[in-house]
Amino acid sequence: MRAVGAITGEPRATESARTGATKGAAISVRGLTRRFGSVTAVDAVSLEIAAGEFVALLGPSGSGKSTVLMSLAGFDLPDEGTILIGGEDCTRLPPHRRNIGMVFQHYTLFPHLSVADNVAFPLKMRGIGRAERRARAEAALDVVRLSGFGTRMPRQLSGGQQQRVALARAIVYQPRVLLMDEPLSALDKNLREEMQIEIKRLHSELGITIVFVTHDQGEALTMADRVAILRQGRVQQIAPARTLYERPANLFAAGFIGDMNRIAVAWDGRAARIAGQAVPLGPDAAITAVPPGPAILAVRPERIEIAAPDRAGALPATVTDIVYGGAGTLVIATLQDGAPVRARAPSAGLPPLEPGARIGLVVPAGAALLYPAEEP
Ligand SMILES: Nc1ncnc2c1ncn2[C@@H]1O[C@H](COP(=O)(O)OP(=O)(O)OP(=O)(O)O)[C@@H](O)[C@H]1O
Ligand SMILES: [Mg+2]
Repeated sequence: MRAVGAITGEPRATESARTGATKGAAISVRGLTRRFGSVTAVDAVSLEIAAGEFVALLGPSGSGKSTVLMSLAGFDLPDEGTILIGGEDCTRLPPHRRNIGMVFQHYTLFPHLSVADNVAFPLKMRGIGRAERRARAEAALDVVRLSGFGTRMPRQLSGGQQQRVALARAIVYQPRVLLMDEPLSALDKNLREEMQIEIKRLHSELGITIVFVTHDQGEALTMADRVAILRQGRVQQIAPARTLYERPANLFAAGFIGDMNRIAVAWDGRAARIAGQAVPLGPDAAITAVPPGPAILAVRPERIEIAAPDRAGALPATVTDIVYGGAGTLVIATLQDGAPVRARAPSAGLPPLEPGARIGLVVPAGAALLYPAEEP
């Protein structure tokens, strides 16, 4: 496997010596705040990203993902907070002094420049000579698997190829950090999946730190080491995919990743009851302190078992809908108090069910999480 460090076969002395950079840099964001008039786009965000880590910023539209990224890149200045890259305070440094590569949602290639000249452009800006520019641009194109495309014009490339050129241009000067803002959202599904793999490969090959903005949860979960969930400018949780899925920090995170039932329960500090019937809870069901009173039980549909209506401990329910989905079937039912519950079961072995059928729903101990009913 080749790395950009070996891109030209020449000593990389010039740039690495100047920046002290060889691989990824750690990023430390502390109390980052950015306001636009009355809107607080980023609200006291703090993030510690390790050198070489791949972090995805995930959140609904308007949650502040791009604003965080633009602050990291230096295209936008925060109102408060500090940004350290590789231990250096970059908060007020202009973009070109941060040694960061950036890829945007829409391929932003110069239409009048050839592919090779597009890729070499950042090197030209940095005053690197023509011969070295050409060699490094060709090597960067090789990394994104576009060797031999240098003489083409951008319009002669497919969308995915153009985005790979943008990627080559972002890595050609060996940045310590690569920032990507929804780089794949303009691509169709197949191309997107191909590019996801390419970017993962690049990440492990180059060892650089990547911060990747997306609002596609699948993309975030499959690509990143850790995912930060943003909502209204605040980080709700930053954790590896599995933790986000299994122990979401709050109901927003719980609902944002995957499918989650939220069932109103009465919590007395020891037991959670639905219509008087206790649901067994594991010892660490409560993620945060839950005051006694109305609370929310959160349980993934695939954790709920469908049983006979008279099974001991099962919650009596009535089937309202059955959605066959090949390997799995989604059974939508209502509890006695009318609350809807979704249960997903392997299709094989599921008894024949029809709307109106009476069933029992079993929530095994340890399958449910408990959250306060009132979220801050
Ligand atoms: N230049 C600006 N002027 C005024 N308001 C802005 C500006 N940039 C962002 N905002 C506001 O800040 C908030 C966060 O915007 P941001 O672009 O960071 O969200 P996002 O998470 O990237 O959303 P999307 O998924 O739609 O790209 C939004 O309410 C947006 O309207
Ligand atoms: Mg955005």
